[in-house]
Amino acid sequence: MSVSSLDISITKVENSRIGEIDPANIQFGKFYSDHMLIAHYEDGAWKTPEIVPFNNIAFSPATTFFHYGQAIFEGVKAYKDPNGNPLIFRPQENWKRMNRSAERMAMPEVPEELFIEGMRALVELDSAWIPSSPETSLYIRPFMLAVDEFIGVRPAEKFMFIIITSPAGPYYSNPVSIYVQDKYVRAFPGGIGFTKAAGNYGMSMYPTMQIKKMGYDQILWTDGYTHKNVQEIGTMNFFCVIGDTVITPAITQDTILAGVTRDSVITLLKEKGIKVEERDINIDEIEAAHKAGQLKEAFGTGTAASIAPICALTYHDDKMELPDISTWEIANWLKAELADIRYGKKADTHGWVLAV
Ligand code: COI
Repeated sequence: MSVSSLDISITKVENSRIGEIDPANIQFGKFYSDHMLIAHYEDGAWKTPEIVPFNNIAFSPATTFFHYGQAIFEGVKAYKDPNGNPLIFRPQENWKRMNRSAERMAMPEVPEELFIEGMRALVELDSAWIPSSPETSLYIRPFMLAVDEFIGVRPAEKFMFIIITSPAGPYYSNPVSIYVQDKYVRAFPGGIGFTKAAGNYGMSMYPTMQIKKMGYDQILWTDGYTHKNVQEIGTMNFFCVIGDTVITPAITQDTILAGVTRDSVITLLKEKGIKVEERDINIDEIEAAHKAGQLKEAFGTGTAASIAPICALTYHDDKMELPDISTWEIANWLKAELADIRYGKKADTHGWVLAV
């Protein structure tokens, strides 16, 4: 079977599992839709992709990614518009970012057609899995693995590109309490902090486990030299509102992921005439603003979490509580504005939404 100009062979499930899902209670990352897309890279070229029933995949225990983490991923979301038509939010940006990650991790570029048209075909086939209640979506997880059967250390020659999808509810159901981390470091200049390499997430597990035991939800990472300039929160980009200005760390020095939600937020704020600064933000500046009553809002942005409000930031023994979230003007407006665009309720003036 051929979908658009990309040849894809499609094998459908005999019986859908969709009846196993309770649409009123969809936890993030627990359920997977009926099909997945798989493409193999061998002898310097991508082979014809296949869409097959979602199932386990067998690998030799000697496969590269198990040992050396040559693995990258993306996160994209599909929504249903008021007429039930599937829409994918800014997948081209994820395609470009996947290829920036691929280059840094010595992996092959994924062609645009394979990424976009493959995703489109998969979402079309499993469109019944896009939930329709508020704050739900179909989370799309494209990823690439190095699959040589070889435990010598060298860049692999064989790869697999896979897309799975998962109906998703909100990532955080409550505002998050943040611990400012100045011992463990997420990213250094020249490193891989700007990529969605699996290792960036694997390395965060231990420090996150420690702060969860202390009662916090997520880490605000700081830079590895001064431990003062803030970077990202958990798996999200960081924003705060000081006075009437929205500030977010600049994407420089390879340490910060160029979030698609981050970019969308900055665009919407600038269009509304709100002051936005992309620059270094020092934790001392945040503390001083809090003491002066000028720290108005703080939030994380990401595909999975969308806009996640922060209720408190703790730095050493200073717990900086934020004003009541219902009084916030900027994050609440952004959340509603982004939702209207994603769910096709508002005209897509930026060309962000791809009809399936
Ligand atoms: C995303 O927002 O897509 C992320 O990367 C978070 C994810 C690791 C759950």
